[in-house]
Amino acid sequence: MDTIVLIGYMGAGKSSVAAALGRKLHLKVHDTDACIEARSGMTISNMFRDCGEAYFRDQETSLLKELKEEGFEGILSTGGGMPLREENRELLRSVGKVFYLKASPASIAKRLSGDTTRPLLAGAKDMAEKERRIADMLSARAAAYEAAADEIIDTDTKNISKCVEEILQKLTK
Ligand code: S3P
Repeated sequence: MDTIVLIGYMGAGKSSVAAALGRKLHLKVHDTDACIEARSGMTISNMFRDCGEAYFRDQETSLLKELKEEGFEGILSTGGGMPLREENRELLRSVGKVFYLKASPASIAKRLSGDTTRPLLAGAKDMAEKERRIADMLSARAAAYEAAADEIIDTDTKNISKCVEEILQKLTK
């Protein structure tokens, strides 16, 4: 079984789909944000605030290099900005088969409406502004997500178990 790597914007469903895949396949699940928080003892928000985004991005790259070196096997759920660096895109693809969970700005804004843990969306004054910011970031990131992906799963119209089913079908293709 290939290692399954999930990429995509915040709120696209990576963590929920990763957990469901882990349960179904009896594989271990790693979440890059959770690993970075555990090893630094800081939340992502505090790391952005106190050390800056570039520092966080360096932690992401180091973690991917380690996972590659140790031959990680299982399900890897990644932070939404992970594929932005070309180096990371190559690392992701060397770790496993990469699935881009794609969602529209409207559904992401809805899923993240009460969320306060994403520093890049903090401070939006209402849903309309949040959705505009998401749409702008998504169009700036689309090429990077697509370049990193082996497969694209549209999560707007599917629940978690449908996404899992589609990933498993594409894995055996
Ligand atoms: C980020 C997404 C977050 C987290 C950080 C930055 C991004 O992860 O890594 O806040 O740049 O899109 P999730 O996609 O798990 O929310």
